[in-house]
Amino acid sequence: MSTLASTRLDIRPLSVFTGAEIHGVDLTRPLSGDEIDQIKAALLRWKVVFFRNQHIDHAQHLAFAQAFGRPTSAHPYDANPPEGYPQIRTISSTSKTGRRGERWHTDVTGVVNPPAGSILRAGHQVPAYGGDTVFTNLVAAYEHLSPALRALADTLWARHQFGGYNGDFDNQSVYAQRVQASPLVSEHPVVRVLPETGERALFVNPGFTRRIKDVNEEESRHLLNLFFDEITRPEYTARFRWEPGSIAFWDNRATAHQGPADFAYLDVERVLYRITLEGDVPVGVDGRHSNAVLGKPFGALGVDTGAVA
Ligand code: SIN
Repeated sequence: MSTLASTRLDIRPLSVFTGAEIHGVDLTRPLSGDEIDQIKAALLRWKVVFFRNQHIDHAQHLAFAQAFGRPTSAHPYDANPPEGYPQIRTISSTSKTGRRGERWHTDVTGVVNPPAGSILRAGHQVPAYGGDTVFTNLVAAYEHLSPALRALADTLWARHQFGGYNGDFDNQSVYAQRVQASPLVSEHPVVRVLPETGERALFVNPGFTRRIKDVNEEESRHLLNLFFDEITRPEYTARFRWEPGSIAFWDNRATAHQGPADFAYLDVERVLYRITLEGDVPVGVDGRHSNAVLGKPFGALGVDTGAVA
């Protein structure tokens, strides 16, 4: 083993449950197998890892992503990719919905195989302050429910779709029309078992989870509100401030996140680039897999011709 391959990365946790900064690695160069293994281990432990001062371009971003999985197309409905990089979603303050900001969400859980991971990189235009992203740990949320509630959650399934709990796309906006023209709707277990660790994650999020199955509307609302309160408890979260050269890489099976609203008040530019990695089909506590109600899996770009975008 070379000296480089045996170098320990410097992993600095950001909070008790969620997030660690990784130092001592240069993402402008190809990663060694050992570095990849250490980053994967940190991701499994902290659910989201962050890098600083990594001034990489689109090609290097893509190469980094490919070290950890198979990139999907940028997004099923809303890609805006940089030219030549159909895997990269541009997330720009000019295309954000304004002062409300985003709802808490896990990426693209309307599909039967939500992305396994997402890698978000700051461009040159990020605010000097404001515009932070907040992440939460869905395993911590599950583990701190009372035993009786965990046992109930283990048996529940939920419908996920774009527009989520609040029906954000039940209208005639241009985006909503795109969603309605090719809907992506799936049923996932409320508690998902993570393949590598066997941990259980409370796999619901307001951005996509519409309804708990097999209970009445009012019961569904109460249960989802309870679960949403749990996943967004501040003690499970970590808040990340963007700088040019910052990167966040999250395990999308075990986290939810919320994009900011505050920077809109400053009227400043904020441009980030995101790549998502093809995901597996979630498995519940009883071993059953998620199923697609409407729409195709979100496959790796250029590999799976059944990809939705
Ligand atoms: C995202 O939801 O992937 C973007 C979050 C952000 O804009 O901070």
